[in-house]
Amino acid sequence: MKVALINPRGFCFGVHRALEMMDGIKNQNVYVLHEIVHNKNVIDGYIKKGFRFTESISDIPAGSHVVISAHGIGQNIEDELKKNFVVSDTTCPFVKKIHYWVRQLAQKQIPIILIGKKNHAEVIGIKGQIENYQNIFIVSNVDDIGLLPDFDSVGVATQTTLSLDDVREIVNRIKKKYKTVFFQNGVCQATQERQEAVKNAAREYEMIVVVGDEKSSNAHRLVEVARTNGSDSILVETVSDLKKYTFPKSVAITAAASAPESVVQEVYHYLINLNKNTG
Ligand code: F3S
Repeated sequence: MKVALINPRGFCFGVHRALEMMDGIKNQNVYVLHEIVHNKNVIDGYIKKGFRFTESISDIPAGSHVVISAHGIGQNIEDELKKNFVVSDTTCPFVKKIHYWVRQLAQKQIPIILIGKKNHAEVIGIKGQIENYQNIFIVSNVDDIGLLPDFDSVGVATQTTLSLDDVREIVNRIKKKYKTVFFQNGVCQATQERQEAVKNAAREYEMIVVVGDEKSSNAHRLVEVARTNGSDSILVETVSDLKKYTFPKSVAITAAASAPESVVQEVYHYLINLNKNTG
């Protein structure tokens, strides 16, 4: 069996930055609002170090140091946190750029189409920038466009971790429906590069193993990109997930932007050893 590691893979700029900020906090009483990044291995590491994770501000005792996750949060929640706590904001700057874009569109009263997954933390945070603005519509596929109201012009924003091919298809459909479309592509460079690398590998390898968390949007997109480009693909959180699979003659490994390299290496060595044992 041929086993390869795909490059680039794994931690992106925004995740490195968020985790470095976490590591720099000296306070003993730290609460992280939502998962810092969507990866159980990473979260478990910080829980062992004494960090606490919560989904609700009401759980956070006075005097705590609060960390805002890399996915970002709504403006009102951020304001409330900053009023009451010492805050470290690890929101990825590329997510902040989308926050700024939707605020600009809302200020100009332009209806907004946000391409993304409804219940994803990043999408909730983007929507939360313009809490009282009613004209925002979340779409996750081309079929959703037909259900949208008619407007003269619309602004389009996207989640950072979508498949670029899907975004292109949805935006083309939006351009057919609306006369004027103000579009800012929010799919970040790291996401694009990882998808491109998987696309190339899928042409050469029969299976792409994606190391990542079930909750990670960009992990699922990598699986989809691999499958769309002709390869089989599986998502694994840890090396033990590999046990239930059989493998073809060629396998390439990648990792979501929030998946640690240590897990990638475990997966790589498992497959190499499997190779040795089966000849
Ligand atoms: Fe930021 Fe893109 Fe990573 S938005 S957190 S650099 S996947």
